[in-house]
Amino acid sequence: MANERIRACRACGAPVSPFMTFGRMPLANGFLLPDQVPSECFFELSPACCERCGLFQLMEQPAAERMFHGAYPFYSSSSVRMQRHFAELAAGIASRLAGVSDPLVVEIGSNDGTLLRHVRGAGCRVLGIEPAENVAAVARGLGIDVVSAFFDDRVGADILSRHGHAHAVVAANVICHIANIHAVAAGIAHLVAPDGFVIIEEPYLGDMIAKTAYDQIYDEHVFMLSARSIGYVCAQHGLELTDVVPQDTHGGSMRYVLAPAGSAPIHPRVIERLAHERAHGLGEPETYDAFRMRCERSRSTLRELLLSLRGQGKRVAAYAATSKSATVTNYCGIGPADIAYIADTTPLKHGKLSPGAHIPIVPAAEFARHPPDYALLFAWNHAQEIFAKEPAFRAGGGKWITYVPQVGVVA
Ligand code: TYD
Repeated sequence: MANERIRACRACGAPVSPFMTFGRMPLANGFLLPDQVPSECFFELSPACCERCGLFQLMEQPAAERMFHGAYPFYSSSSVRMQRHFAELAAGIASRLAGVSDPLVVEIGSNDGTLLRHVRGAGCRVLGIEPAENVAAVARGLGIDVVSAFFDDRVGADILSRHGHAHAVVAANVICHIANIHAVAAGIAHLVAPDGFVIIEEPYLGDMIAKTAYDQIYDEHVFMLSARSIGYVCAQHGLELTDVVPQDTHGGSMRYVLAPAGSAPIHPRVIERLAHERAHGLGEPETYDAFRMRCERSRSTLRELLLSLRGQGKRVAAYAATSKSATVTNYCGIGPADIAYIADTTPLKHGKLSPGAHIPIVPAAEFARHPPDYALLFAWNHAQEIFAKEPAFRAGGGKWITYVPQVGVVA
């Protein structure tokens, strides 16, 4: 299974070249046992932004089967905040479909069924599409029908022939995972009913740049989307961007609402967002030069902080073995000498080593049992939830370290 490397933009075919490299990276969810270290798989993590269509993308990505498989360790339900978010999204979808008889909602990347169980509870027929068998099995256990597949135009056509049109197609944190973005857009365009709608939610390029959240860049995020780039791709398949709604999930996401062209009014927010992206230079090479310099500064500041704590004999651990943390640890050269362990709630990660950096992953309860002096918060996007759940850490004198938007000890 070779890595896929490009020279031309995946959306428009214009030549693209990387504006920086993070170096050789492991799979962000490639948690491993010590005896698997010699066969660990790496790729070159180097992002580019297409000057012609604005699509932010990786120059190289490992094969999909290496990333999404029967032991995929990301469960949508792992955060209470995300569970609430998906319950709210489901309620919004159901209320929009209130006048439709027997509506069908299809979710691409349905993971453990966190969204669809609420959609079904609101009276809609649901169908999930999910290639990672272990998370799909959790959704099936909830009684949700799940197709085991990587979604594309062929799968979209197959679902259409078996189930008919979908009144809503939803994809949350998944379109940015799939390199063949045209096959996905074509599949969605086939599947959605002429009077239906599409909701896509993804980490937002604008937030990543504004917060220097470079840890959003890893193997699974082959794209960081913007209103401009998603609008450009979908327009080629007869879908129109009708609304954009910023979300505070995943450290800053965007909800893109689309519909078959001409079937729904376009909210003024779309025009405003496109103007905002132009004004913030999201398509300009200078923006990415400045971003690269901020990443380099962030890396040296974090390294200096960890080195100084080590010099003072402080015990440092980390909280949440996120996908994002693979980029931080490997780019910044952070290893077990800097961080004693990473505490995490996901049983599949326990007893394993973090990808590339090989820091031991321990159950979340270890954090309370052996609290460090300082805890590097890898799930900075869940900071409020985690601070609320670990009050004893601060009360006992522990200090949180963050690195987004800036490296520092949290006051
Ligand atoms: P998330 O930021 O959603 O991850 P990613 O960068 O992979 O998209 O965080 C999910 C991970 O964080 C998952 O490994 C579980 C862990 N986590 C905890 O350990 N404790 C917590 O309280 C929360 C919210 C997450």
